[in-house]
This record gives sequence, structure tokens and C-alpha cells, in this order.
Amino acid sequence: MHPFQCVLRARRCLRRGPLASVSWLLLRTCRAHSSVPSSACPSPQRQQEDGVWKDFSSRLATGPTFQDFLRSASVPPEQPSSSEVEDPPPYLTVDELLGRQRRVYLETYGCQMNVNDTEIAWSILQKSGYLRTSNLQEADVILLVTCSIREKAEQTIWNRLHQLKSLKSKRLRSRVPLRIGILGCMAERLKEEILNREKMVDILAGPDAYRDLPQLLAVAESGQQAANVLLSLDETYADVMPVQTSPSATSAFVSIMRGCDNMCSYCIVPFTRGRERSRPVASILEEVRKLSEQGLKEVTLLGQNVNSFRDNSEVQFNNAVSTNLSRGFSTNYKAKQGGLRFAHLLDQVSRIDPEMRIRFTSPHPKDFPDEVLQLIRERDNICKQIHLPAQSGSSRVLEAMRRGYSREAYVELIHHIRESIPGVSLSSDFIAGFCGETEEDHLQTVSLLREVQYNIGFLFAYSMRQKTRAYHRLKDDIPEEVKLRRLEELITVFREEATKANKSFVGCTQLVLVEGPSKRSAADLCGRNDGNLKVIFADAEMEDATDSRLRVRAQPGDYVLVKITSASSQTLKGHVLCKTTLKDSTAYC
Ligand code: 5AD
Ligand code: SF4
Repeated sequence: MHPFQCVLRARRCLRRGPLASVSWLLLRTCRAHSSVPSSACPSPQRQQEDGVWKDFSSRLATGPTFQDFLRSASVPPEQPSSSEVEDPPPYLTVDELLGRQRRVYLETYGCQMNVNDTEIAWSILQKSGYLRTSNLQEADVILLVTCSIREKAEQTIWNRLHQLKSLKSKRLRSRVPLRIGILGCMAERLKEEILNREKMVDILAGPDAYRDLPQLLAVAESGQQAANVLLSLDETYADVMPVQTSPSATSAFVSIMRGCDNMCSYCIVPFTRGRERSRPVASILEEVRKLSEQGLKEVTLLGQNVNSFRDNSEVQFNNAVSTNLSRGFSTNYKAKQGGLRFAHLLDQVSRIDPEMRIRFTSPHPKDFPDEVLQLIRERDNICKQIHLPAQSGSSRVLEAMRRGYSREAYVELIHHIRESIPGVSLSSDFIAGFCGETEEDHLQTVSLLREVQYNIGFLFAYSMRQKTRAYHRLKDDIPEEVKLRRLEELITVFREEATKANKSFVGCTQLVLVEGPSKRSAADLCGRNDGNLKVIFADAEMEDATDSRLRVRAQPGDYVLVKITSASSQTLKGHVLCKTTLKDSTAYC
């Protein structure tokens, strides 16, 4: 028998050719690979206990027929409702798709998108009857939601897998066998390589395959390895309401789009997360409304290129109006037209609850038309904070990175944003030591950091990623020690400038959304100002400005006014003045 069994399922995917409208679920049998450790297959005792293994195994060995392929391929390409258990494929019964109270431990690596993906994956598994545990020892299934953006991120996962290997091998035979899964970008990038290298990995699910988790785990129950790493053109998990990990949280992330079409030459994201696609506006508004009803006070709209949002799902909005890019910016792809754009979404989202702060990340500098900037200026509950990833201060390097702008165009945009939104807080991402970066290029980045004086910065050493344009066309010619030295220099300059920028808050009063106790001292509380800077203040009794007869203490989710007394590159400190509301008070100096 062939080591892979393939099942066609109806869904739009990225596979080209005659089978372009279907995706593949790859199932690998452990019998076909004698090197798979015996722990990956159920013990004879377990086989007897379950009584399903033999039957399941023979069904799987026979595999789906050609008729099964045709039947499932002809199903209309609509997503199943997540509230129902999907029709099982021919080799699984409905019962096998159920979680049977197995305990799942989820571990998240990487960006906020992965935090949101974890909540989506958990929402899907919960509906299938799995339980969640925060205790690794108690887990029957361990799922790592992974990141591939830099080599170091992947190394962390390989190290973690080695630790989990020993947990798996020490597992008591009286317990159900431990199953381990890799989800997200690393599953997508490395595919079978993970299954071959780490034989104890049971399942792989790429970023567009979380709906298949119950199926993949059902297959893994019998000791088979299972994988779905197909990318989709339209999967946005619009109907999957993510489950908030912490019930006391004051803020939530709402995914509004997935994927990236920019193809910056250094970036693996378009290969691991696929093509750009936006979630329908109505489903986003519904999710934000629910979060508001639950009492959440802050929503961050999430996406790889959040401001490139374009909902084409409603035909009447698919006109031929072409896109306004920021002045001096271009794209690597053909101009897109029509659809409901980010300004429309931001407007609608911000109207839902005037007491709910709205943020968004991560945007691309090319997509900041004036409508977006004006909306941010006008609406009290849209935070005046913009992330504007520059990546480099050298036009030569920006061209090699295929960012679609020069240093001059970027700086002009910064001026325009500062004029449009007085007091705006700015943050950025930078890469040190990209292919061909000279000392002069590096100094240009240093000078950009000085010129803009960002409040928040994320700085990285360049890490060459296979598949990217830079991997194929450019040379990773900056020695590691030079990359690290340049990175250190950027960090030092960023900190000096951020300290200066943040010191301008001293003496001002900031509106702070309280998050909870400070990590450093139980006597202090911690929250964030509009610009997303952390603000620490003593937990003291204060006036409630909405009812001056009351003396209260700040609770998570409250808005308070804090007078700032000191500032560093990362934090503001001050004393609390009163409890207030978002619409009744603004920060002042
Ligand atoms: N090496 C280093 N940093 C990278 N980033 C993306 N790809 C790479 C890479 N190959 C950084 C960029 C991006 C952020 C999310 O990660 O700065 O904006
Ligand atoms: Fe990567 Fe560029 Fe897309 Fe950001 S915009 S995810 S850096 S390709």
C-alpha cells in the first residue's frame, strides 16, 4: 500500500491543475514506516480496549474509493457550520470524530495572529467534545501553534519537540497514548519534513486546515500520522467564534483578514499563510458586538496587512473603483478594485460601542488613504496609534526588499500622518543586516530611527528563509556577528529616542484602560494609554468621576485618568486621579 492516502474534500484551495477546486488531507500509516516508534501505535491492550482500531485500520487500509473522491469533490464549496459535527469522511465514523473528553494542551509561539489561531483551533476542538487543560502532565493531546518567520523561532519548536518526546515515551501504558500536533506556519513550511524528522509528531495542520483538526486527531487515535497543509483562497474562519483564553481579559483580538500578497523579498509569510483574503464585514461586526456585550473594552483588528482589507463578498460593492495608495507607494501585484475597504470597516466597528477602544495591527504603509487617517483623528475610541513597519531607512535596501517605497516616500507619509493626527503614537519594525546592506545603509536606518522617534519598536536580525525571493535571488552576505552588532546599535538608538518621545508625557494626564495588577508589585496596577504604552500606577482609592459621591479602586476594564510622573523607553509611571469613561474624558497636558 502507498504510504499516503489522499482524500479529496471540496474547498477552494491553492493547488493548480485539473484538481484545482479540491484540497487534500494526507494520512500516513505507521505500518508503512517501520521506523515509527511503537509508542506511536496503540498498545495491544489499548487496541482491545477501544475495539475500534482493527475495524478502523482496515477501513483506512482499504482507503476511500475513486467514487468517494468524486462524490466529495462534487459537494458545493461551502463551509460547514461549526456548530455541527461535519459529515465524516468514508473512513471515519461520527463517533471517531468526537473528542471523548480527551484533554488538549495548546501552546502558542509567535505573533498575535497565532494567539488568535489558537483560539480558533480551540473553538473547533471544543465543539467536537475535547476538554482544555493548562497542565501539560494532564494532557492527552499537545498542540503547538508555530511560527516560521525567523530561523530562531523554528529552533525553539524543534527544542520543544525534543522535550515532548521524552514526555511521550515516559507515558504510562494505562493512559491513552499522548498525541502531539504541529499547527500553523511551521507545519505549512516544512510539511512532511517534520513527520520524517520527528516521528513522534502525530498531526500537522497548516493555518487554513484547523477545521480538519477533529479528523486529523481521529486518524491519529489509531497511530497513523495525519496532515492537512493545504492553503485556501477563501478560508477566513468567519463563522468560528474564537474562545477567549482568559475570561477576565479586558481586550480581544478579532481576525479580519488572512494571508499576504505583498511578497516582500525576505518574508516567508505569503508562503506559509497564503493569499490575502478578507472576512465579510457583517461577521466581523457580529463578533465585535458579542465582545462588547461580554463587557470587553478593547478590540484589536488583526491581519497580516490589516489596512489592505477588502471584502468582496457582496456583489453590489464590487465596482471598478481602484485603490488609493499612500503617495509614493506601489505594489508588487496588479491593482485590486472594488469591495468594502478598511475605512468602511473601521467606521462601522468604532460605532458599535463608544466605550470600546479600537486598535489594528499589522498595517502596511502603502494602504493609508486620507479617509482612514481622518477617521482615526475624529473618533475618540479609535486609538491614535499607528504601526508603520519601515524595515530599513535606506532606499537601496528597501528596493531589494521589494517594499514598494523609498525612504523619502516613507518620511513624507510620517509627516502627513503627524499633521493629520496630532499626538499620534508611532511604532515600527526594522530588519538589521539584510542581503547586501552596507555600513552606509545601516547608518541610514539609524538616522531614520532618530528622525521619526518611534514610541514602540520591534527590531530583528535578518534570517534567510527558503522559498523567498531573497533566498533565490540575493546573497545572505552579512556575517552573523555584523548583523548582531548592527541590531544592537539599532536597539540602543531606538531606546534613546523612545525615552525622549515618552518623556514628553511627563506632567500630562493619560486615559488608561486598566488591565490588572502590575507584574513587579502587587501594590501597583498596570494598564495602557491610547498609544499602547504600558502605564504603572499605585492601586489607591480615587474619586469616581461618573458619581462624585463614590470613592473606588480601579478594576480591570475600568478607564482611569493617570497623571504621568516618569517615563522610560517602554513604560510610563504616574498616580491615578479618578475613574472615568472613554467618551467623557480625553488625555491632556
Ligand atoms: N528575518 C528577520 N525579520 C523578519 N521579519 C519578517 N521576515 C523576516 C526575516 N526573514 C520581520 C519584519 C516583519 C516582522 C513581523 O518580522 O520586520 O515586519
Ligand atoms: Fe511579510 Fe511583507 Fe507580507 Fe509583512 S507585508 S507579511 S513583511 S510579505
